[in-house]
This record gives sequence, C-alpha cells and structure tokens, in this order.
Amino acid sequence: MDLVHLRPEARDLALLSVSERLAGAPANRWIGYTRANQAVALLEQLLEREPGRIRPRNLLIVGPTNNGKTAIAQHFLRGHLQHPSEKGEHEVVPVLLVQMPPAPTVSRVYAAILTGLGVPEGLHPRSPSREGGVLSLMRQVECRMLIIDELHNMLAATLPRQRELLNLLRYLGNELHIPLVCFGTRDAYLAVRTDDQLENRFEPFLLPIWEDGPEFGRLLASFEAVLPLRERSDLGLPAMRAMILQRSEGTIGEVAALLAAALETALLGGQERIDIAAVERASYQPPTVRRRTVERQLR
Ligand SMILES: Nc1ncnc2c1ncn2[C@@H]1O[C@H](COP(=O)(O)OP(=O)(O)O)[C@@H](O)[C@H]1O
Ligand SMILES: [Mg+2]
Repeated sequence: MDLVHLRPEARDLALLSVSERLAGAPANRWIGYTRANQAVALLEQLLEREPGRIRPRNLLIVGPTNNGKTAIAQHFLRGHLQHPSEKGEHEVVPVLLVQMPPAPTVSRVYAAILTGLGVPEGLHPRSPSREGGVLSLMRQVECRMLIIDELHNMLAATLPRQRELLNLLRYLGNELHIPLVCFGTRDAYLAVRTDDQLENRFEPFLLPIWEDGPEFGRLLASFEAVLPLRERSDLGLPAMRAMILQRSEGTIGEVAALLAAALETALLGGQERIDIAAVERASYQPPTVRRRTVERQLR
C-alpha cells in the first residue's frame, strides 16, 4: 500500500483496523511550524549566550490559551534534560521548568522551584534561609535558564502580591545571572509591563492565532502526515484550510482537536481520508460555542 503521504512512524498505525486506530492514542507529536521553530531557536540562543552576563536578556512568549506555548517549552526542555555531572558527583539541571502556581505567592514560587529541582516537600527549607537555599541549590545544579509557564496566573494575586512576584523574578535573574523565559497569555504581558525594569529586559515573542495562508496549509499538511489514514486528505488546500480555520477558531490545540474528531468521523464512515464533509460533521464544538453552552446552563 502506498503510504508515502505519511511520516514513516505513522505508516504502521495506518495499517491497523478501524477500531484499533480509533483506540490508539492521538498522535501527540511535535510539529515544528515556523513560529515554534523560531521560538526554540531563540531559546537555544539565550541558553548559549546569556548565562553569566551581568544583565541577561529575558524572553516572554505570549499567545492565547491552547496555542502551543507549553508544547514549545516542553520540546525545548527535552533537548536539555537533567543529567549527572561529568564526574558524576552531582545532578545538572541545565533548564528548570516550573509553573506559576494558580494562587501564587513568593513562597509558593520558591516551593515550585524546589519541587522542580526534585527536593521532596518535607525537605523544603523554611524561611528566612529559604531564598539562600534556593539560590545555592540552583547554582549547585548549574541551572542556566529558568522557564516559568502559565505566568498569567500572577494576575490572580492582589496588586501588592504581584509586585512581590515581579521583584522575585528580578531578584532571581540578577542573583543567578541566568535568563528567565516566561510563557503566558496577554495578561502575563500586562503584568510584566507594570514593572519598568523588568519590561525592559523581557523581549516579547508573540504566538498569534493562526491566519489563513500557505503557512497554515503547511501546518495542516504536517498534521495530516501523522493521521492514521491510508489516503491523502490534502488538508492544506485552500477550501479545506478555510473550513478548518473557521471551525477551530485558529488555535493549534483546537485544530488538533477538530482533526481528531474529523478522523473519527471519517473512519466510522468507512473513509480513508478526511474530506470537507467529515470536517463539517465532526463531533466537535468550537470554543465559543462551548462557552456559550456553559453560560446558558448557568443561567
Ligand atoms: N508544536 C506542536 N505540534 C503538535 N501539536 C501541538 C503543538 N503545539 C500545540 N499542539 C497541540 O495543541 C495543544 C495545546 O497546546 P499547549 O502547548 O498546551 O497550549 P498552551 O500552553 O498555549 O495553552 C496540545 O495539547 C497539542 O495537542
Ligand atoms: Mg500552557
């Protein structure tokens, strides 16, 4: 069977029965679209150049929810995993990824960092020695970049708390001389902007909603190459592209969800490709419709 439209690793899957293909976990594979590749390249550059500088550059990757921010952070992290030091004396954590906690305080951020470094909660140092403990631990593991995902959670805190958190970020960067990379929605950007000194050092990098065009076509073609279907769907062609963009409302997470639903519709209908009808009939609700449904039920 000619499966050249698929990536090699998707070909075996495409040969399975319909029920096996439906049961198979959705291929959560990294797709390196242009903007994501640029973000990763920028992260590599920061990791290469900034540690040790007096005022390292920071990066703030901003985009709507479900638009691939965490995926970028995790993809980058996979290239810089924790490993034993050369002489095997200690662990090296070149890049530490933590989340801004949902109800953030300075304490909880420190706790998140310690947990991220593998320190069990029972062994977390108590204040006031805590700051020093965290800093010396981060130096010990030779951490060269701190990534904070979900930075927008900061906005759940009161204004004075937000100020404390921004001070903390500034403090960590200054003390450790490492670049900080934050990921968040527009709210994260607004929060960082309230601190002049930080704003100057955070270069924003936007991850906008998708627009129709050849680049979106290439993204869809990449998704198609990992869908377990035996025939070409040509998802990147203009009419299909427009339909997918319109139904998904343009974030990569929604595109992935819509295609997963369309795959199911196609397979259950005995088809080996996703056509426009499958996209239209897919049991999938766009985010605005889901939101409206919930709001109606709350009335
Ligand atoms: N680079 C990518 N390649 C393939 N799928 C992706 C990629 N980025 C995001 N996705 C899909 O979109 C979903 C949401 O992405 P995520 O990174 O969690 O968004 P965010 O952090 O911006 O809210 C993921 O679960 C995955 O299905
Ligand atoms: Mg995320």
